[in-house]
Amino acid sequence: MNNYAIILAAGQGTRMKSSLPKVMHKIAGQPMVCHLLSTISKLNDVKESVVVVGPNMDIVAKAVAPNKVALQVKQQGTGDAVKAAKDLLNGVKGNILILYGDTPLIKLETLEKMIARRESGYDVVVLGFTPADAGRYGRLVVKNEKLEKIVEFKDASDEEKAIRLCNSGVMCVNAEKLFKWLDNLNNNNAAKEYYLTDIVEMANKEGAKCSVVEGSEEELSGANSRADLAMIEKIAQKELRNKFLNQGITMVDPETVYFSYDTVMGKDITIEPNVIFETGCVVDDEVEIKGFCHFEGAHIRKGAKVGPFARLRPEADIGENCHIGDFVEVKKSVIDAGAKVNHLSYIGDAHIGSKTNIGAGTITCNYDGYFKSKTDIGADVFIGSDTVIVAPCKIEDGAMTAAGSVITKDVHADAMAVARGRQQEYPEWSKNFREQKRKLKEGK
Ligand code: UD1
Ligand code: MG
Repeated sequence: MNNYAIILAAGQGTRMKSSLPKVMHKIAGQPMVCHLLSTISKLNDVKESVVVVGPNMDIVAKAVAPNKVALQVKQQGTGDAVKAAKDLLNGVKGNILILYGDTPLIKLETLEKMIARRESGYDVVVLGFTPADAGRYGRLVVKNEKLEKIVEFKDASDEEKAIRLCNSGVMCVNAEKLFKWLDNLNNNNAAKEYYLTDIVEMANKEGAKCSVVEGSEEELSGANSRADLAMIEKIAQKELRNKFLNQGITMVDPETVYFSYDTVMGKDITIEPNVIFETGCVVDDEVEIKGFCHFEGAHIRKGAKVGPFARLRPEADIGENCHIGDFVEVKKSVIDAGAKVNHLSYIGDAHIGSKTNIGAGTITCNYDGYFKSKTDIGADVFIGSDTVIVAPCKIEDGAMTAAGSVITKDVHADAMAVARGRQQEYPEWSKNFREQKRKLKEGK
């Protein structure tokens, strides 16, 4: 059957205390709503996903494009929110999944289970769970293995409040019936809202069949506050670490390593403690990463050794078997195989040829306050310690620079460039100076 999804995201999320709509807050580097869209996209036969937003949420529309958004003008409950997607999905046939934008960790297998249940002859499949604390969740009233209705906590009797099986909010509904049921909702309830959950009772009255699939509390954790967000981040990081451990990556202390949703790792990689992978990183096989590194948008190729305390910024491309050492920052630069930048350097907008050695304290001056310029260093070059290379500048293959040089002109292949004051020596100068000063101080 065809699958469609509606993601509810109209809530601003007041408790987040943020100018950003709630679903735009990130987990593992990706907005929550995009996590859901990515999970949905892995289902078979997905035809369309619609995100229901509130007024002034263009930023959500941008983040979810090319998926469409539907506007819920006034927040009048979850039933009203789903109805906002009616114009975009009216008349479709198959399954409509309804999800919450602030519950980003739902698993693909869980959605597949719901779809399979629905296709086994049910019109409404509700995702239930049994949280440690049932709190104010809606309760699932199941009798003789039949889901009879969902009661909101506010409207529940004491007997119903004692039920432990709760409504996660996620549903899989027969697309041909959903909008008709929504049209018949009323708001005669404690919250004066149009409850999506009321469709279960409605369906039963018509003789349509309803069922429950159970999920885990972890995957159904929702973010209402920054504390919730941190808790969900913890779960997401745990999952990413487990994925990489199972993939053949050694982490000395996994809990101190942070990944992004899109981090790509090969195998036989070793990662020491306290390393952060922001978005866009690719690490190939047999790379060794020492402690306290920060990476973003970087590609580290096979067999390279990086860190400790290295910072790789977007478009840093570290070649095979390269060494990038402590307090080295690399930005938008390609470093060819076997090159070494071992200590205290800034390499920006540069190309460094293979087997070149960059001495300690080397800086590429890539920015003059107005424009960025390129530094092009060839293969087998030896850059002396504390060289400053003022870009644009080209240093050809096999050349050397003397330590402490400020290189402002191109250097030819195999040449040695020296660009610093010559050393002079004045015999006895220091001794005489000290004597003079001492006498002056003693008033002689
Ligand atoms: C809802 C369920 C409840 C369930 C709980 C799980 C209903 C009536 N109740 O309650 O049974 O246990 O979720 O968390 O469905 N939203 C809109 N527009 C609205 C209202 C809500 O887009 O007008 C969105 C919110 O942004 C949020 C989601 O729908 O992502 C859930 O809304 P929320 O107000 O948190 O529902 P609950 O009252 O918690
Ligand atoms: Mg809620």
